[in-house]
Amino acid sequence: MPPDATAVLQARIAEIERDDSLQRPERLRERIEAMDRLDALLFDDVADAVRRHASALMRQLETVNHTAYLAIRAAIRDGEGKAVMRHWLQALAAPADTSPDGQAYDALDSVLAGVLPFDEPAGDDDALPAEMVFYQPTPARHILDMIERTRLDATDVLVDLGSGLGHVPLLATICTGARCIGIERNAAYIACARRCAEALALTGVTFVEQDARAADLSTGTVFYLYTPFTGTVLRSVLDRLQREASARRIRVATLGPCTAIVAGEAWLVPLEPPQPHRVTVFCSIAPRPA
Ligand SMILES: C[S@@+](CC[C@H](N)C(=O)[O-])C[C@H]1O[C@@H](n2cnc3c(N)ncnc32)[C@H](O)[C@@H]1O
Repeated sequence: MPPDATAVLQARIAEIERDDSLQRPERLRERIEAMDRLDALLFDDVADAVRRHASALMRQLETVNHTAYLAIRAAIRDGEGKAVMRHWLQALAAPADTSPDGQAYDALDSVLAGVLPFDEPAGDDDALPAEMVFYQPTPARHILDMIERTRLDATDVLVDLGSGLGHVPLLATICTGARCIGIERNAAYIACARRCAEALALTGVTFVEQDARAADLSTGTVFYLYTPFTGTVLRSVLDRLQREASARRIRVATLGPCTAIVAGEAWLVPLEPPQPHRVTVFCSIAPRPA
């Protein structure tokens, strides 16, 4: 007979409580995974007392994580964010063969959510005009992949077109020192992103409340689009990017369905063949001499 759900949960609790190493701050990934395993078992029909025991253990592990997040935030405020964040994110990156596909989130996203002090606006964006896509953050592993494959560095200006709460510009400026600009039409998201940047004393990142079709694109060297819009809105922004590319070379990084449209632009060349569940990086062709 299979063990009952309460016995399975009790065994998991005992296993986690025996493992003293889970109390060490650097065991972030292991704690997050332990909490996920406990959480999954709470969906089963388990005895109330054991459920409460599991919930208390999860809160205790989260408290240890919170201490680690506070230390990372302090390092960012002290200007040590690049080294500290890169260390953590590389240590936490899932091995390639276990990395989830596409849009799924993983332990890296839990860490990013712990480190970035967002007080998210309540409710959804109800007033989304046609052809504009609702907010969904880029999974952190794709942000890191984009940073690496665009070779983003402190000489660059990254523009996230439709930046939502600002994960991409915030993480990119912390990890590279690049100046980063988030353009977003939703005022509540912009306010939230600005508060987060202020709390972390990040001066290299700016959030502009604007429709991307009207934004100043003149300083950008790398433009990121996580399918923020479609149809004529995307067309209009791509036309504006093409005008920028007629004066200087730019890189455009995309994720999601907009990649197929961007791949059809004759003025852009992909660095590698586009893959459906990965960031694609495009370079503009050299501008014609005047
Ligand atoms: C899929 S989310 C991407 C969020 C963010 N770039 C990220 O990757 O985490 C798309 C965002 O684009 C914003 N958006 C949609 N149309 C826009 C427009 N015309 N101008 C500026 N922002 C827009 C939405 O409000 C939403 O926050």
